[in-house]
Amino acid sequence: MSASSFSSFPLARKIIVAIDGPAGAGKSTIARHLARHFNLLNLETGAMYRAFALKALRADIPLQDSQRLEALAAETVIRLEPGEEDNRVLLDGEDVTGLIRNQMVTDAASQVSVWPAIRAWLVSLQQRMGAEGGVVMEGRDIGTVVFPHAEVKIFLDAAPEVRGLRRYDQVAQLGPAPAIQPEEVIRDLRARDERDRNRADSPLKPASDAVLLDSTHLTLDEVVAAAEAIVTAKLAQLHHDGGVGHAS
Ligand code: DC
Repeated sequence: MSASSFSSFPLARKIIVAIDGPAGAGKSTIARHLARHFNLLNLETGAMYRAFALKALRADIPLQDSQRLEALAAETVIRLEPGEEDNRVLLDGEDVTGLIRNQMVTDAASQVSVWPAIRAWLVSLQQRMGAEGGVVMEGRDIGTVVFPHAEVKIFLDAAPEVRGLRRYDQVAQLGPAPAIQPEEVIRDLRARDERDRNRADSPLKPASDAVLLDSTHLTLDEVVAAAEAIVTAKLAQLHHDGGVGHAS
């Protein structure tokens, strides 16, 4: 059975594909592609941390003040709506999709995500969103914490310099020369990596059963093909075994 014939295969509606990895590794692009190819919903969990970070910044709450952040979380409603291409993020009903990608929110998201109470809240939302299966969920702790029994786990990585330069090129393509230098992008990225990998609660790391995919020396097409092959192989195995595992 070819990869594409699996896209309409009923089993594909039920699997969970977890994609974890550091910033700039290409998770969103790969997740989007896999979602389209295998007819899955694409859920981008980083957007939820970003939306909450935006609310904390607006409320002027110090990002080190875990108690006030926790109280803020208790009165916050975050919704992720998967669309054809990207996710729409609603913060207390307001569409903040276009407001959460700037450097300030990016940095703040990494800071609020160290707090266990914030993580527990968002993890439980994510578990509810993916409970039915049929999703590609992308983040830092999907294969380790959110869905430790996900049928497919991919840990996407690349050297920091390569990730930084890809990010820089993305920004540069959007408009006039970016005010920031490539070296600064790489430095920011390393700082974020450091925090995401070393936090006490759910640090970024590959699940023991994740397939490692290092894109340092691969083109986008090659990474897409490799990721697709990983999912296809897993679907074939599940088909052979006669069913899918459980979605929790
Ligand atoms: O994937 P992203 O760059 O949009 O994520 C923003 C921040 O949110 C990132 O620095 C770490 C945090 N995050 C997390 O801790 N766990 C996730 N599942 C997703 C993101």
